[in-house]
Amino acid sequence: MFRMSEQHERISILGLGAMGRALAGALLAAGREVTVWNRTPGKAGDLVARGAREVSSVEGAIDASDLTVACLLDDASVRETLAPVVQKLADRTLVNLTSGSVRQARELDRWLKEYGVRFLAGGIMAVPPTVGTEGAFILYSGARDLFDRVAPALSPLGRPHWVGEDPGFAALYDMAALSGMYGIGAGVDHAVRMLHAEGGDVETFKREVLRPWLEQMLPIFVAGADVSDTVPDEYNPEMQAVGLENILAASGEAGVPADLAGHLRASLWRMRRAVATAG
Ligand SMILES: NC(=O)c1ccc[n+]([C@@H]2O[C@H](COP(=O)([O-])OP(=O)(O)OC[C@H]3O[C@@H](n4cnc5c(N)ncnc54)[C@H](OP(=O)(O)O)[C@@H]3O)[C@@H](O)[C@H]2O)c1
Repeated sequence: MFRMSEQHERISILGLGAMGRALAGALLAAGREVTVWNRTPGKAGDLVARGAREVSSVEGAIDASDLTVACLLDDASVRETLAPVVQKLADRTLVNLTSGSVRQARELDRWLKEYGVRFLAGGIMAVPPTVGTEGAFILYSGARDLFDRVAPALSPLGRPHWVGEDPGFAALYDMAALSGMYGIGAGVDHAVRMLHAEGGDVETFKREVLRPWLEQMLPIFVAGADVSDTVPDEYNPEMQAVGLENILAASGEAGVPADLAGHLRASLWRMRRAVATAG
């Protein structure tokens, strides 16, 4: 049976990569009893000195706690790790914080349920240094009552945020949010390359222009994002298209490789389409 006190105290972590170590560290800092396992031994580092127990088998990790958290490279590594021991997970709780696709999460859920495993899928909205810090949050999907029972135990990792019963939704929200992040990253990289190529001071530009500009615009972009190709009434798509062409021209003049400007071309396509539709 699922015991509340154990849930709060004893947690096993499968995987001691950069993220697994950060998760274990945050749980130790919060006073949890932490058992760790990694495919390649000897990766527990200072976690053992800080109170973690390292075990040499996945079975040992599952046995040590009612709640097991997997944080491995990918879906295949989770399957490979759990396949020989899945029967041991019956009536126990597994939380998978390994990144993967929506379909992989749904299939993993189906497979684990065949063995009576209580399963929550997750997505970590943090990087190792920010795990357990104020801004960090973790997406979970799966049964709401299971989330309610598990969330307090895992709250030291970051604010627990449930996104739905569908086990694929944590991956869906995670991948979509990452797409937004990489879009910003691509734009930022492109911006500093242009700046540098034309002789500007990158650090000054980042501090005095790029960051305040993005901080001003980010809420507007997020609020305005939608799934249509229409352009809000207050923006003339033709003006937007000309503006994007200017940026592409400046990028070309600076000799910044054209393939780094994909995000601009996607916006230009959207504006041209809006102009065509309006006409
Ligand atoms: N790092 C981040 O910023 C970040 C942020 C959000 C989410 N995540 C997600 O967190 C997960 C782990 O990331 P990470 O940064 O810890 O990666 P990592 O440092 O590359 O560690 C990968 C871990 O997976 C294990 N592994 C790989 N293949 C395996 C297999 N076939 N069987 C068993 N174990 C296997 C590795 O064990 P060995 O030591 O034996 O190789 C190691 O413990 C990924 O899904 C990642 O997308 C990471």
